[in-house]
Amino acid sequence: MEIVSSVKDFQFLLSEGRNSGKEIGFVPTMGALHEGHTSLIDTSVKQKKSTAVSIFINPLQFSAEEDLDNYPSSLEKDEEICINHKVDILFCPTQKEIYPNGPPEPEEIGEIGTILEGKSRPSHFPGVATVVARLFEIVGKSCAYFGEKDFQQVKVVNDLVKRRQFPVEIVACPTIRQVDGLALSSRNAYLTQDQLTDASVLYRALTVGAESILNGEKNSENLKKLISDVVKSESKGDLDYVGIVDSETFTPLNLLNDLGEQVRILIACKFGNARLIDNIGVVVPET
Ligand code: PAF
Repeated sequence: MEIVSSVKDFQFLLSEGRNSGKEIGFVPTMGALHEGHTSLIDTSVKQKKSTAVSIFINPLQFSAEEDLDNYPSSLEKDEEICINHKVDILFCPTQKEIYPNGPPEPEEIGEIGTILEGKSRPSHFPGVATVVARLFEIVGKSCAYFGEKDFQQVKVVNDLVKRRQFPVEIVACPTIRQVDGLALSSRNAYLTQDQLTDASVLYRALTVGAESILNGEKNSENLKKLISDVVKSESKGDLDYVGIVDSETFTPLNLLNDLGEQVRILIACKFGNARLIDNIGVVVPET
């Protein structure tokens, strides 16, 4: 595995990969790699791509009150993980490499980025879209792998690719969970053992919501109350939102009507200092 920090060296290695006849598989990350990330890497490697991982903690996607300064970082361990998972190129740029002229104008985000996570963290998706656009400009034609744990981020990135016409195919990979259902996230590192146990309520609550849809519940408000009640009664979590949207369009749904409609339930909740998000997909059944 080659480790580079300059855009020039990175692009040289990408072109070597292409010259060897392989397509590029790109996994953008902020480091503190866990099995969620390695599942993205493994998918790229299995698809026989020349696999490049970037590690860049992007300041633009954190607001002033958020955890930029304490965001977990473990570069040596990350390098070892990348080697073990057969990554070809690890790109660890400085801020100057990514934003040579200082922070750029934030990238435009569509409506999808303004609700739920976008409403609670207004500068987050513009920051994500800005760095992802910059990374896609650097990497060029490729498949880029993102985790469905950040379902709304996947939608924002898909939207960005369409709007800016990047030659990038977005591959959304399933969320990886602990045995108790907690979705793997770098932010889980902030939690105490008790908080980790508490946070497993998120997946239980989402599952209760999904089962209720499968049993015929069609009213979003009822579903949101049901899910919120599970979180409130079974944990000390500070719930931010429960959202129910059409999986394809990300339009909020009041009533689930159509048989076969793909629905996503999304949740955000704080446990101690960590704000966690999760989601689940359900298909509306025949009633
Ligand atoms: O999901 C993440 O880790 C980040 O939001 C991303 C896509 C690497 C952009 O900084």
